[in-house]
Amino acid sequence: MEKPQKNIALDLVRITEAAALASARWLGKGDKNAGDQAAVDAMRQSFNALDLQGTVIIGEGEKDDAPMLYNGEKLGTGEGSAVDIAVDPVEGTNLLAKGRPNAISVIGIAPAGTLFDPGPSYYMQKLVVSAAAKDVVDIEAPTKENLQKIAKALGKDVDDLIVFVLDKPRHETLIQEIRETGARIQLHTDGDVSGALMAVDPKSEIDVMMGTGGTPEGVLAAIAIRIMGGELFAKLDPQKQAEKNALSEAGKDVRRIYESADLVKSTDLFFAATGISGGNFLHGVKYDGQSAYTHSIVMRGKTGTIRYIEAYHSLSTLMEFSSVKY
Ligand code: FBP
Repeated sequence: MEKPQKNIALDLVRITEAAALASARWLGKGDKNAGDQAAVDAMRQSFNALDLQGTVIIGEGEKDDAPMLYNGEKLGTGEGSAVDIAVDPVEGTNLLAKGRPNAISVIGIAPAGTLFDPGPSYYMQKLVVSAAAKDVVDIEAPTKENLQKIAKALGKDVDDLIVFVLDKPRHETLIQEIRETGARIQLHTDGDVSGALMAVDPKSEIDVMMGTGGTPEGVLAAIAIRIMGGELFAKLDPQKQAEKNALSEAGKDVRRIYESADLVKSTDLFFAATGISGGNFLHGVKYDGQSAYTHSIVMRGKTGTIRYIEAYHSLSTLMEFSSVKY
């Protein structure tokens, strides 16, 4: 028997809450960079208090473009475990700027050396299903075949299914193929981390997520999926010739099929996400004069515990000592 250990995810949620509280002020204001910057600042400052030797593997991009939370940046006090860190201060910057649902703030943590480093890969094709359907699908099979098998595994008819798809020109054929099967579709302009987590959650109305989205977002989703169950199948899917060339120079095989365990090679994981704009996955930040409310999900891989946390924040009290401005 092991002694009870610290659940770092409970520290992480304070950071995603801070990022959500700071960035939700920008909801619908049409300025995605300002909203993202507010979240980055809040998240970066909050990391200083964590006893970790962390390295950012999934961050805001290369150091030259991202002054904070850049890939390779060291975070934490330097005490405690050596870990890989994946962050997305605002997942869905356009959703935030336009006041659309499902913008969230996300952090995942894994033991050092266990997270997939996207390198020059920006885009990944993803097929995400709940545990009941994970053994029947094949990311290379025709859409119709996968949807028929998923429906059977879930004990549904194909026209009962709801498929989450990013509403992008690259998905024109995919959307057509899904519609031909009779399955229903939720088209979202952005936010495929939320989409993936809803697809693996049997309580959500989403049954499956299909299509191509960000590679970093795929790794973040894989951390949560290794804890929640279900499966994410993925293939690197370069959208431009430059990305294709960079992948072949880096020796990455675009034919390889990745599962969540290939993207996250450990189950000793921590994950936290807080809703910014609200939606069917997490509620958004509600400000109420001198107070604010946040809604988060917090997970620990070792025990499989998943918590939903509703927090009340006394902004007037926080402002007396917090370096983060809400
Ligand atoms: P940002 O938060 O960086 O704006 O990303 C949002 C997002 O929609 C992700 O959820 C998704 O994986 C990716 O962008 C898709 O990229 P693109 O909009 O270039 O197709």
